[in-house]
Amino acid sequence: MTTIEKARLLKLLYQYRCCGFEYFKEYKPANVVSKNSSGSFEELNDKVQSCHICTISKNRKNVVFGEGDKNASLMFIGEGPGANEDESGRPFVGKAGMLLTKIIENVLGLKREDVYIANIIKCRPPNNRVPTMEEVSACKPYLLEQINSIKPKIIVALGSTSYHHLMGEYDMPISRIRGEILEFGTAKLIPTYHPSFLLRNPSAKKDVFADMLKVKKLL
Ligand code: URA
Repeated sequence: MTTIEKARLLKLLYQYRCCGFEYFKEYKPANVVSKNSSGSFEELNDKVQSCHICTISKNRKNVVFGEGDKNASLMFIGEGPGANEDESGRPFVGKAGMLLTKIIENVLGLKREDVYIANIIKCRPPNNRVPTMEEVSACKPYLLEQINSIKPKIIVALGSTSYHHLMGEYDMPISRIRGEILEFGTAKLIPTYHPSFLLRNPSAKKDVFADMLKVKKLL
């Protein structure tokens, strides 16, 4: 297949995907499909590892699928992988991740591995820019499948990108909505500030502390 043919095919597949077709089920290069897929979560991971729907997949080092307890009651959803996450294939492992881990352990009294941590998108956008609507449309269905499978009781949306794309409320500032207890299917969704924001604005830590106390009460 020529490069132009490939590009045309990818564009067409992307359009189908935006319409809700799961056409990429057909796209499973043999070398990336795990032989011991044991359940739908693992199959989903296999599918995501071979995803090339949007352009940022081209420059990724690793897909950051998400990690934690697949039966967790609590799920944290950030924006997208940064450099450390792209390098390691794991979510929230840089400075912001260290702060998130502290929040989970010291405020919620849980272990990091007891919760599930994921992002709105699974590949690192160039220079850590905010993901585009196209990228989110291509990637969010994977996250929704994860949420569907984990069935968390509580989802914490970390930062405005996460909140906006989960709730479809693109004009609401995170400073106004944080700490509210919202409905997300059968789960409660609580938006709060992103840990990267806290690193730049330590005075907002008290707000996140208050939001986490609400989470703790609901668990
Ligand atoms: N910021 C995010 O939103 N997600 C990560 O995984 C890391 C940093």
